[in-house]
Amino acid sequence: MLYKNPRGIGCIKCHNEDAKGKLIATYKTKHGEIKKIIAPSITKISYDDFKAKLTKVSDSRSIMPSYFLTNDEMKQIYFYITHRDQYEQ
Ligand code: HEC
Repeated sequence: MLYKNPRGIGCIKCHNEDAKGKLIATYKTKHGEIKKIIAPSITKISYDDFKAKLTKVSDSRSIMPSYFLTNDEMKQIYFYITHRDQYEQ
């Protein structure tokens, strides 16, 4: 539930239903270069890295928004994305 709808925009929107990441957008720079914005897979990340990412307030250039989640909420989301295979088949 929290993964889909935390207080803020759902992780699912960018990281995909299965948390394995997805391409958010492609764009062309003014030099004609094609750039891609990708939300990475977050199913194999360690809890420490996961928590670090979610507690850091993102700077203005970051695509991923900042969240204000409790320790329990972060643990629940982490457990969910790393054990998803066991729930939904
Ligand atoms: C608007 C799109 C967007 C949303 C919503 C979003 N993310 Fe992200 N996330 C990204 C992008 C893009 C990156 C990679 C760039 C960066 O690190 O900022 C990222 C990176 C991460 C990372 C670090 C992955 C790594 O390997 O370093 C974690 C963990 C993460 N997101 C978890 C979450 C969780 C959990 C939520 C929901 C509470 C969430 N994200 C919501 C776009 C998003």
